[in-house]
This record gives sequence, C-alpha cells and structure tokens, in this order.
Amino acid sequence: MVWDKDTKTVVLTGAGVSAESGIPTFRGEAGLWKNYRPEELANPQAFARDPKTVWEWYDWRRGIIAKAVPNAGHQAVAAVEKHFSDFTLITQNVDGLHQAAGSERLLELHGNIWKTRCTSCGAIEEEYSVPLKDFEPRCSCGGLLRPHIVWFGESLSPQVMEESFACAAACRLMLVVGTSGIVQPAASLPLTAKEAGAVLIEVNADETPLTPLMDESLRGSAGEVLPELLRRHKVSI
Ligand code: OAD
Repeated sequence: MVWDKDTKTVVLTGAGVSAESGIPTFRGEAGLWKNYRPEELANPQAFARDPKTVWEWYDWRRGIIAKAVPNAGHQAVAAVEKHFSDFTLITQNVDGLHQAAGSERLLELHGNIWKTRCTSCGAIEEEYSVPLKDFEPRCSCGGLLRPHIVWFGESLSPQVMEESFACAAACRLMLVVGTSGIVQPAASLPLTAKEAGAVLIEVNADETPLTPLMDESLRGSAGEVLPELLRRHKVSI
C-alpha cells in the first residue's frame, strides 16, 4: 500500500506551509511590501538597478522569518520523513523552517535567505544579522553581496534540479503542500511524478492549476490538514 514505510515518497512544499508561522506568501496581499510585487524585486535586473531596495525587501522578510517558529505543518512534514525509509523533501521555501522542525533530507530549490553570495567571486556565506548592518553589503574581495536565492529569470542549480526531478520520477507518493503551482520548474515536479505513476495528494487552502492532476485534494491549512492526513494513515507525529 502507498503509505507503507518502504514507499518512495516526496513532499513538495511552497510558501503556504509557512503561512501559519506568520510568513507572508508571495501571491497573497500580505506578500506585498511598499506596493512592490515580489516579481518586481526578486530579479537580477532590479538588483543591478537598485541593490539597496532589493536588500531592504529581503531585510523585511528576514526580520519576519527571524521571529517565526515552525508550525504543525512543518512538524507533520518532519514526521512524514521519519515514517518513510526513502524520503525527500523538495521545498521552494528559503526560510529554513523545515530544518528547524527537524527535516533533514531536503532539497532547497530556491536557495536560502540566510545565505549571501558574492556577485564577484561567487563565495557563499551564512549571514544572520537582522536588521542588516549594511544595505549594500560587500564581500571580503570587495564584490557586492546578493541574497543566495534563485530569482525570476535565473536558473536553478543544475544538481538540485536534476536530483529533484529524479526523486519525482522515482517516487510512488507525492504530497504537494501550500504551493500555487505556477512557478517553474517546481510546478512540473508533480507532473513528472504523475507520469511515472505516483499517487498525488494536494494540501492547499485553495484550488490550484495542479489540482486536476491530483488523486486527492485536501482544502484547508497545512497545519490542520496534514496532521489529520497523517492520523488517517497511522503515521505517528
Ligand atoms: P505562493 O505565494 O505563490 O502560493 C502559496 C500557496 O499556498 C497558495 O496556493 C495558497 O492557496 C496556499 N496557502 C496559503 N496559506 C496556506 C496554508 N495555511 N496552508 C496551505 N496552503 C496555504 O507560494 P509558492 O507556490 O511557494 O520564489 O511560490 C513559488 C515561488 O514564487 C516562491 O518560492 C518564490 C516566489 O517567487 C523565490 O523566492 C525564488
């Protein structure tokens, strides 16, 4: 059966799983900052034009995330990992809350908000100050630092992408939690799993473009629906 411990399982998450921790999703009204849409700031052109504003936006998000703690949805995802012997979490989230909840085997598709990358030498460093000391931070080599995040118009790390699609193609069960399913290539992972014969279950507050692919669609908040789903399938939380 599909919930047996040896079923290859993938959980794909998006911003909805962190909404109950108080982190605004990207496409809800709460995701707006100074009337900018995330797409207007999370792109390389915006950063080249005005790095300070882009860093201010990330500083705002980092300030919110720094105060946040994992919710019942993150904890349920960590419990799914403990239940299955072959498990991968693929997340679009950059907030680190899955790790804080105990998830270990995870692929971060879009990077991590607590890391910087030098636009000159490429060095990646962890950076936890909130607020940032400098809104045009510099590397020791003198280069401008940027958030280590995949922006609109940029490619994902080829290794992370390859591994994610391989996991999606090999899994027999995929839970798709709190993602609008419109940002590629993440949105194609459920299709890959479906084509390979996996059972797909969606947990989302609303219907999404991925809903028609699903074997089961559960409407509601991840923090309530996921624990309920796990209880139904006798997965200990
Ligand atoms: P979105 O903001 O696009 O979508 C959030 C989804 O979560 C929506 O479908 C909501 O219905 C759902 N949702 C909201 N609250 C929920 C809750 N409590 N429980 C369950 N579902 C809930 O976020 P993503 O799909 O993650 O990229 O967006 C994808 C990417 O777009 C992000 O990773 C980000 C953004 O640009 C980067 O930062 C690179």
